[in-house]
Amino acid sequence: MNRIIAPSILAADFNNLGKDIEMINQSEASYIHCDVMDGVFVPNISFGIPVIQHVYKIAKKPLDVHLMIINPDNLIEPFVNAGASIITVHYEACKHLHRTIQIIKNEGVKASVCLNPHTPVAVLEDIITELDMVLLMSVNPGNGGQVFIENTYKKVEQLRNLIEKHNPDCLIEVDGGVNYETGKKLFELGTNVLVAGSFIFNSENPTETIGKLKKL
Ligand code: DX5
Ligand code: ZN
Repeated sequence: MNRIIAPSILAADFNNLGKDIEMINQSEASYIHCDVMDGVFVPNISFGIPVIQHVYKIAKKPLDVHLMIINPDNLIEPFVNAGASIITVHYEACKHLHRTIQIIKNEGVKASVCLNPHTPVAVLEDIITELDMVLLMSVNPGNGGQVFIENTYKKVEQLRNLIEKHNPDCLIEVDGGVNYETGKKLFELGTNVLVAGSFIFNSENPTETIGKLKKL
């Protein structure tokens, strides 16, 4: 199975963002994970469209944009114009999720849905055939550097079953508290994409850490 690493730039040095994007460009990472927070859906505000436009100018990898915002429908086109290749919306933030997914797909980018730690995998049963990726939160969204929630392992297994039955090409991405230990187990259980922020950017040699995560 293809193993993909998506460094989260939430943990990058915002005074030297260009340097960190260059590091990702030169590394074995496949995506650049961009965490957008609105201060309403999650209790934090990160960055938005202008930052993503600048990242896109120098990025050599697809931008994996994780929208932690309520009612994202009207912002999908601007995020695609800013450079997003994958757009993830939260199940908990979309009243008409099917419509939101169609809006993303009509923009010609990959569509993904994220589940918070308390949201059961079963809620995806009637939307899974429409999705390119599912993102499982393994911490409560809003901050980097939190401890991995162990219940996520069970959810990866449940999601792998659902995907094998209905949409085998759909990717599983896990986000939050990823390190060598949690990452290894997640890959073994059928995760395709690991998001890692603080573990990569707080390490001595981020390029090497990305390479090691990919080979777990
Ligand atoms: C949390 C974000 C994550 C975060 C992960 O709300 O969605 O992408 O950056 O950070 P770490 O890897 O430090 O747990
Ligand atoms: Zn994220």
